[in-house]
Amino acid sequence: MKLELKDNKVFFENKGLKKEIHPFWLRERVNGENFVDKSTQQRLFDPTQLQENIQIKNLNLSSDFLEIKFNDGASTKISIIDIFKEFSNINHVKQIEKIKWDSSFKDQNTFEFKDNLFETDEMYKALVNFYQYGFVIFKNVPTKNNFIINFANSIGSVRRTNFGEFFNVKSKPNPNDLAYTSLPLAPHTDNPYRNPVPCIQMLHCIENEVTGGLSTLVDGYTVSEKLKKDFPEYYKILTEVKIRFQFIDESVILEDWAEMIQLDENGNFKQVRFSPRLDFVPLIDKEKLDLFYSARKKISELYNSENYRIEFKLLPGDLLMMDNYRLLHGRTTYDANEGNRFLQGCYIDYDSTEGRLKHLKRKFNY
Ligand SMILES: [Fe+2]
Repeated sequence: MKLELKDNKVFFENKGLKKEIHPFWLRERVNGENFVDKSTQQRLFDPTQLQENIQIKNLNLSSDFLEIKFNDGASTKISIIDIFKEFSNINHVKQIEKIKWDSSFKDQNTFEFKDNLFETDEMYKALVNFYQYGFVIFKNVPTKNNFIINFANSIGSVRRTNFGEFFNVKSKPNPNDLAYTSLPLAPHTDNPYRNPVPCIQMLHCIENEVTGGLSTLVDGYTVSEKLKKDFPEYYKILTEVKIRFQFIDESVILEDWAEMIQLDENGNFKQVRFSPRLDFVPLIDKEKLDLFYSARKKISELYNSENYRIEFKLLPGDLLMMDNYRLLHGRTTYDANEGNRFLQGCYIDYDSTEGRLKHLKRKFNY
């Protein structure tokens, strides 16, 4: 990448392609103290109020800076690295490569809780692990006074749902969800009927006196990639057909239409949804449905297979943070007569973890 000047124009060259940078684009980036607030990096001017025919009057390029005077009187000195950064459009979080895992995965990504954890290098590493594997476990997180809310709000902010700011997972009479029983829970993703679906789930173990009730996780990314490789027709239809997910209780009806495997604009993995008690398949051609039902059966078989599931017991103080767009979670059955099993849960969104990760990256100069 390099910059070139010619006839009061700035050109950007990348991989043999040379293009002029629009003078208005440069004018928007005028960064002196009269133009940008130093601490927030927010503009002190509104670029939509500027005159349209912005031209460059004077230019100077040194090894580190581009100095420009514009025809409306503004002048600036812009770091060349900053210009390159904008062109390369790098998102450091999106650059973290997902690592596929299956039942042979033994490392549980554990990190020790300590005071001021959220500002440490250790937190940065935990968040990188979270993006690599889709989950991370923090040990010895205080269990008193709904500390999970404190924990979640120290990373970002809690995403409230119809289950409240946080929810208590223990068997209770007249439950409005199977989570609140001692029945086994097959692998599923949470809240597929919400728009948007909550991104990250936290589950904090307060008490666990039972021998069963193991937590289970499955990597939806590994499974969908496996399906893509071995059953491409199944993969294709699950990425195409939108089904309706719904949740109904006495106070609310929530529903949303979405694919079971959702891809991004480049055709890459974005999200899985799987909750076979809440999904309603559209009435489409019988032949298409034949294929869809076979595909859904196959992916269910893979999600429920022992080959892809890890199982572990959460101990009091353990806080599991998992990506609800990538992982499926569940639990094995337990006998409520053996003692208490009490978890607290809440959700946060990706902007929380991304924002914290970028902040810690800046802080520790990675
Ligand atoms: Fe769940």
